[in-house]
Amino acid sequence: MPYLASDSRYASMLYNRTGRSGLKLPAISLGWWYNFGGRDVLENGRAIARRAFDMGVTHFDLANNYGPPPGSAEETFGLLLKQDFHPYRDELIISTKAGYDMWPGPYGEWGSRKYLLASLDQSLKRMGLDYVDIFYSHRPDPETPLEETMGALDSAVRQGKALYVGISNYGPEKTEEAARILRELGTPCLIHQPRYSMFDRWIEDGLLDVLTEEGIGCIVFSPLAQGQLTDRYLGGIPTGARATKTERVWLTPDDVKKNLPKAKKLNELAKQRGQSLAQMALAWVLRKPAVTSALIGASSVQQLDDNLAALNNLQFSDDELQAIEKILKS
Ligand SMILES: NC(=O)c1ccc[n+]([C@@H]2O[C@H](COP(=O)([O-])OP(=O)(O)OC[C@H]3O[C@@H](n4cnc5c(N)ncnc54)[C@H](OP(=O)(O)O)[C@@H]3O)[C@@H](O)[C@H]2O)c1
Repeated sequence: MPYLASDSRYASMLYNRTGRSGLKLPAISLGWWYNFGGRDVLENGRAIARRAFDMGVTHFDLANNYGPPPGSAEETFGLLLKQDFHPYRDELIISTKAGYDMWPGPYGEWGSRKYLLASLDQSLKRMGLDYVDIFYSHRPDPETPLEETMGALDSAVRQGKALYVGISNYGPEKTEEAARILRELGTPCLIHQPRYSMFDRWIEDGLLDVLTEEGIGCIVFSPLAQGQLTDRYLGGIPTGARATKTERVWLTPDDVKKNLPKAKKLNELAKQRGQSLAQMALAWVLRKPAVTSALIGASSVQQLDDNLAALNNLQFSDDELQAIEKILKS
């Protein structure tokens, strides 16, 4: 069936301005890290992507290495763009990144100009795009001069291969420095992509202040702590869940077990707010004015719908915020 996007796709989504730029992003964006790779079921990915766009999720976030195998999420996007989303290209914000291990040898990872620009060309080819909307340096490179990495981002824009640039996983000082270099080059840093959730609050310690001061947007990844801040693990670790996948070393059954008592208490609080735990966790990251968008993953349309309904209640009373603090510190 050819895809026709819903006429009501802009009816319920909230759009936030990205820092001091002209670009607005949906309060909830869809990440393609997992669930869209070569080993995943294409029709499930297609259903999630279609539903997301139908609900006003105009931003899909990719990277060169997403899959598994690496590169395959971009290939899936390329296929879906051709078959479904082609008429809607100008309604979509597509990002990709380079920084992690992608091909053998000294030019296949980190932050050299050689790697970043070659990787962007490969990404464009896999996705069948002339340009991406946002191109990121995926992680800071301790050995490459920051001028070189930022210079490569600037070149990507000047070559017409990216409209905006961003950085991911940079600490506060490096972010300040990167912002200065990019400003001097005439290509402002649009956005930073850090990890942020109730279980990982490092950005509250300086980074958010830098982003506000510099007018840089912030899209936070893993706001559900990879599923730990949802009902996914409340009754044990189900077969097929991310924590059971051995190649996915970023979330282990031990992490889940350690955090479960807090997740259970948070779930009770969410219920009192008339929300699911996932909805409360998303509202909680969005409570910070510096946060432009919560970047979620979803392995089903049902999870996506649960998450999008977070937008029905983004407000917290002081008592609720204090109760959350108490649980997180317990
Ligand atoms: N810049 C970086 O270095 C970096 C790093 C990581 C991620 N990211 C980006 O951030 C995106 C999101 O990361 P993430 O996938 O870790 O985010 P997340 O939203 O914290 O976790 C997504 C996972 O949580 C579970 N889940 C989501 N909604 C649920 C619900 N309503 N009920 C029950 N379970 C639910 C699913 O796990 P199951 O698969 O078990 O169903 C889903 O795959 C990525 O796709 C990527 O675009 C960027």
